Amino acid sequence: MSLFLDAARGADTQQAPVWIMRQAGRYLPEYRALKERYSFWELCRTPELVLEITLQPIRRFGFDAAILFSDIMTPLPPMGVEIDFSPGPVFRNPLRTEAQIDALRLPTQEEIAPFVVDAVHLIRSEANVPLIGFAGAPLTLATYMVQGGGSKDYATFRQFLRQVPEGAHRLLEALTEVTIRYLRAQVEAGVQAVQLFDSWAGLHDANTYREFSKPYNRRVFEALAESGVPRIYLAVNSLHLYDEITELPCEVVSVDWRVPLSTVRELLPSKTLQGNLDPANLLAPEEHLLREVDRVLLEGLGGPHIFNLGHGIFPQTDPDNVERLVERVRAFDRLRAEGKP
Ligand code: CP3
Repeated sequence: MSLFLDAARGADTQQAPVWIMRQAGRYLPEYRALKERYSFWELCRTPELVLEITLQPIRRFGFDAAILFSDIMTPLPPMGVEIDFSPGPVFRNPLRTEAQIDALRLPTQEEIAPFVVDAVHLIRSEANVPLIGFAGAPLTLATYMVQGGGSKDYATFRQFLRQVPEGAHRLLEALTEVTIRYLRAQVEAGVQAVQLFDSWAGLHDANTYREFSKPYNRRVFEALAESGVPRIYLAVNSLHLYDEITELPCEVVSVDWRVPLSTVRELLPSKTLQGNLDPANLLAPEEHLLREVDRVLLEGLGGPHIFNLGHGIFPQTDPDNVERLVERVRAFDRLRAEGKP
């Protein structure tokens, strides 16, 4: 009964379901109006506001799935980590020593984010589409915690992995445990799929990925296996990691725009593919946008496909272009395009 859940579970659906990363956020005037009155953390920690912001893009565009409005940093303050947003995350005390890592708290499932649990209940009682929950992958969370915020090359973090590898593994252990508890809380509250954002995995070569990311992602996904919710993995710029990623116990892999889905299909034959329009195409003239949407739809044939962007939507995007994108995806008959009756 849900195009999104059917495709996530491996069905080659007649229409590609569509949602877009960062669909709730700054490109929407109705989000910006709330942002003028509340800080980002206030928005994330007030269940009624999370409900409102999660549903804003659903009302406007009729996407096939809603994604919980929150941030990958949400479970970190209960570990004892202080974060401000401006607009990206800024850590007051970046982790640099083993003593800091050993001082991190492991909050219980109930302590991590009670406001998220309340928000999920509210959303489930109002939304008519499935709700996607999410978390940051352990390696990506560690990247920000050690680096202290966004960076061009994350040199401090990459040095840390090499200089303090045992400390890094203890940090990743703690983050894995907290991520499992946080996602279990979301699933028990009612989210119907989960996405693990490993935004910075692609920075690393395959050996480093195999040591510091893959085993922890595997544990997070295995912990959710029994729940039966589809599991989505996102790693940007990671063509060189697909031999590893294909082995992760998840149903869906989110693909960025650098490689056509038809190429990735051969590397990840057992996964539903999600993606992969370059978000820059939403800043282009209509003709260009629609041509690129068609290209992604055609390249997505030959297996289950969830239409999405290759990464988050740019804040300067005109919402009307999103409407055109959704219309175009809806009008595309995948079975007919494959020559099936
Ligand atoms: O997708 C959605 O609509 C749900 C909400 C969501 C947010 N952040 C809201 C947000 C999700 C899924 C995230 C995930 C997230 N957060 C990731 C992984 C996805 C990715 O892009 O790779 C990362 C790395 C973060 C960390 C983060 N939070 C950054 C880098 C930034 C600043 C840059 C930006 O895009 O604004 C944030 C802040 C943030 N998270 C905002 C929103 C709507 C902007 C806050 C504001 O309104 O000023």
